[in-house]
Formats: sequence, C-alpha cells, structure tokens
Amino acid sequence: MRTVEWRDGKVRMIDQRRLPNQFVVAEYSDYRAVAQAIRDMVVRGAPAIGATAAFALALAGQNSPAPTRAALLVDLDAAAAVIRQARPTAANLNWGLDRLLRRAQATDGSANDVRAALVAEAQAVADEDVAINRRMGANGATLVPQGATILHHCNTGALATVDYGTALGVVRAAWEGGNPVHVLVDETRPRLQGAKLTAWELKELGIPQTLIADNAAGLFMQSGRVNLCLVGADRIAANGDTANKIGTYNLAVLAKENGIPFYVVAPTSTIDLDCPTGAAIPIEERDPAEVTHMGGERIAPEGVAVANPAFDVTPARYITAIVTEEGIVRPPYETGLREVVERARVI
Ligand code: MRU
Repeated sequence: MRTVEWRDGKVRMIDQRRLPNQFVVAEYSDYRAVAQAIRDMVVRGAPAIGATAAFALALAGQNSPAPTRAALLVDLDAAAAVIRQARPTAANLNWGLDRLLRRAQATDGSANDVRAALVAEAQAVADEDVAINRRMGANGATLVPQGATILHHCNTGALATVDYGTALGVVRAAWEGGNPVHVLVDETRPRLQGAKLTAWELKELGIPQTLIADNAAGLFMQSGRVNLCLVGADRIAANGDTANKIGTYNLAVLAKENGIPFYVVAPTSTIDLDCPTGAAIPIEERDPAEVTHMGGERIAPEGVAVANPAFDVTPARYITAIVTEEGIVRPPYETGLREVVERARVI
C-alpha cells in the first residue's frame, strides 16, 4: 500500500514507528487525530506530511457539520490552523494545506460540493506526488555514475513520500535503469530513520546497502569510498539554503572537504520562496527522550540536560545541485528555484 491513502472516508497510513519489525496500518476519521499522528511521527518525511495534511483537511471537511459553504470555509480555516501546528519545519505541510484551502475557496456550490472537491484535491496531491517522485528519480539518475557508492541520510524513500521517494527515488531509478549502485545508509540518530526505514526499504527492493553509524561517514568519505551524497529536504529557502534531518550539514561540509558532490533531491513543494535564507527556517525541537532513551531503555543519566533539534540547515554553498521534478537546479539558486516553482504551479 501507499504510505498514506484515503479509503472509504478515512485516512489510512503505515505506522512508521513500528517498522521494521511490524507492518501496522493505522486508520483515522478525525482530522485532529491525523495532526497528532504527524506530530508523533506515525507518518513522517516532508512530502508524506504534505499529502497527509491534505487528507486531514479533506477529513476536516467531513467532520464539520457546517450547513453552508461559507460556514464550512470558516471551519476549514480553523482546522488548517490546528494541522499547521503539527510539525514546523517541513514546507510541504503548509503547501498541502494552502493548496486545499485555495481549492475550497475556488469551488462554488453547496457545502457538500466543497467537501467533495477537497477529497478530490487531496487525492490529486497524493497521485501527483508519486508521479513527481518518478520524474525526480529520472532526472537525478543522470547524476549517478555507473556502480557508484551513494551516501544517504535519514529516510527519503517510499515511506517519506506517498510512494517511490525523493533521494532514495534517485537511487531506485538508477538501480532500475541497470546501474549497480551501492548505498551507504546513515543510521540517523536519534530516531534511526536510516537503520529502521531506509535499510528496510532497500532490503525489500534488493538494492545493495551497508548500514553505518552516522559518525563513520567522515571516514568513508576520506578514504575514497563515497562517490556522491544524496539527501532530501524539509524546506529549501529562496537562496538554496536547505533544512534537512539533523546531521545533514555535517555531511555536506565533509563532502566539500573531500571533493564529493552533494545533491539535494526534493519536489518543488518543498521550496519556500517566502523564506529568503536558511536563517528564517523554523527548526523543530523534539522530546529529550529521543536522545536519552533507545528502544524504551534509558541510556543517559537521569536529569541530564538535552538538546534535540530535529533538523539543521545546510548553506547553499555546500550543495552541488538541487534535483526537482522540473529539472536540476545549479548555483546560483535564486533564479533557478523561482523558475521551477513557477513551472510546477497547479492552482
Ligand atoms: O523527522 P523526519 O523523519 O520527518 O525527517 C525526514 C527528513 O529529514 C527527510 O530527509 C526529508 O523530509 C525529505 S523526505 C523525502
């Protein structure tokens, strides 16, 4: 099944907290519960969060008893404000909600007409995400040398999107095109999206991989065992500065030091032109327990002070190119990013 989908008036998603040991599908009929599921990381990854937020707003339309179109629009604004609070960094969350709100406003007729339009628009967001990822994969695969070893961080695969993946979609497209790539999988502390999710996806796909501790990445780069780095993005500022999973910045600096190309792969829905530079990107701070505990067991002394930023910002100067569904953007990023966003605009 897809990472997130709409079935019989409910939102269903793979519970990513349970992988790789259990494959459990969670089902939601209340938009507030979906917002909570995003916060709790039942679903995660910027494009998947965007699609889930869109489905949540479609659910909010159904949850609302509003008898008129005007009253429903008021309820939808209130629901969108709740869903927006779920996680702050991924641009796709706002993008998905704003797209659905624009669709609601552009729909004439009864409240039920608006409700139906919201479901159709959320479904379109989800379907388009899969098609976009495949286009990104094809674009990015042209950057991958034959037999390359690719360093990858976090999870950017089918699970981080509706299906197929962004950076991992590029890996997949290269592999499907006959390129015998090998992936060095960063485990990605503290939540271990690399070890738990990326390793699981690559195993299912039969793509060769080696799992490494995050702090081994420098050694592999320094000793000539990495040909390129591929990462995703949660928000790309207008100047190309990119927020992604904590630890991405470390990799980008190490890649530059070692002369290794560092590519960001993300759909245009992750580009936030209203955000001038990385300094304006909100960085989520998560529960200290993600750092002090592993598998439910305490690994640090009681009462120790903890900082747990979930993302960092990689300055544009460390990024060799940004791969989007509308093409590959190279520095200077300002004009190129604006162009791809304009080309992709739907409503
Ligand atoms: O905290 P997460 O797991 O939602 O973080 C995910 C990432 O940082 C991904 O690299 C990013 O969302 C791109 S996913 C295609």
